[in-house]
Amino acid sequence: MSSAPSARDPRITEVLRGLNSRPHALNPKWFYDAWGSHLFEEITRQPEYYLTDCELNILRMHAEAISKWMGPGVVLAELGAGNGEKATRLISALKSPRCYVPIDISSQSLQSAVDSIRQFKPGIEVNPLCLDFGEGFLWPDGLPVGPRCLVFMGSTIGNMEPADAVLWLSGLGAHLNRTDKMLIGVDLKKDEKILNAAYNDAQHVTAAFNLNALAHLNRALGANFNLALFHHESFYNPTYGRVQMHLVAMADDIIRMGGQELSILANESIHTENSYKYDIKDFQTLTEAAGFRVDAVWVDSRHWFGLFGLVTSGDSRDD
Ligand code: AVI
Repeated sequence: MSSAPSARDPRITEVLRGLNSRPHALNPKWFYDAWGSHLFEEITRQPEYYLTDCELNILRMHAEAISKWMGPGVVLAELGAGNGEKATRLISALKSPRCYVPIDISSQSLQSAVDSIRQFKPGIEVNPLCLDFGEGFLWPDGLPVGPRCLVFMGSTIGNMEPADAVLWLSGLGAHLNRTDKMLIGVDLKKDEKILNAAYNDAQHVTAAFNLNALAHLNRALGANFNLALFHHESFYNPTYGRVQMHLVAMADDIIRMGGQELSILANESIHTENSYKYDIKDFQTLTEAAGFRVDAVWVDSRHWFGLFGLVTSGDSRDD
């Protein structure tokens, strides 16, 4: 049996720093253990969570144009590939993709991505890369020749603070060649009622996903959160243009972790996630600040979601 991590474990230091801040905060990466990833997949199947359907709708409606934009025999690298579900949709929309490079921090997810793509499209070369894409990205050696496109679907960029998204994108751009392209899925601003419903589904899957972050801390860091004392809260904050997720304490609680204690009072909340929503113009400005140029934008029939086709705008990169 593994013993509880020590107080000096850097994960505990980081978690306690967030929980001790006012308002209390927790990094959304704590959603994603195996159970959390499963719950997220369930979220994408909820009728209120329109994002996945919208992205699929764009791929279906604009398959021809996206395929043409990427070029024939494209080499695709997907940041945060997960189980390969998004890639299956993308690859089925493309004419003749040559190679797929799924990138994910979880080797388990990568294996499912590899298996599902090989089964779905046996002719495509698959080169998995196990890394934390938040730390940056370099094209691996030995890829086939062809146009290259880096793909980041599902509006995961919305979970970054806009300033962090600029820094992260410019870091990526620094390692892309002038001819490389990038395709990013972005959730667009829309009626608040639709946004609030998407993050408060009737089956309470999002609530379970949110609460699982505390269960994950209990399992991984030996914390003692009583999940029954917290409830899920999620709402669109128009001032910041983001959906905020919180776990609200229903009673005072003392949390122990790594030999330390902290108290959370009734009605205080732990801020667990932001999900930024953009206007097309706002996102264009963000990408320009990161050294990219928006070359194409495809939207779904309701204009709720956008796929942005980016090219690098710098002139100092190698070909
Ligand atoms: C992964 N990410 C794009 C999701 C989102 O919509 O921000 C995470 C999520 N949080 C609650 N529901 C889904």
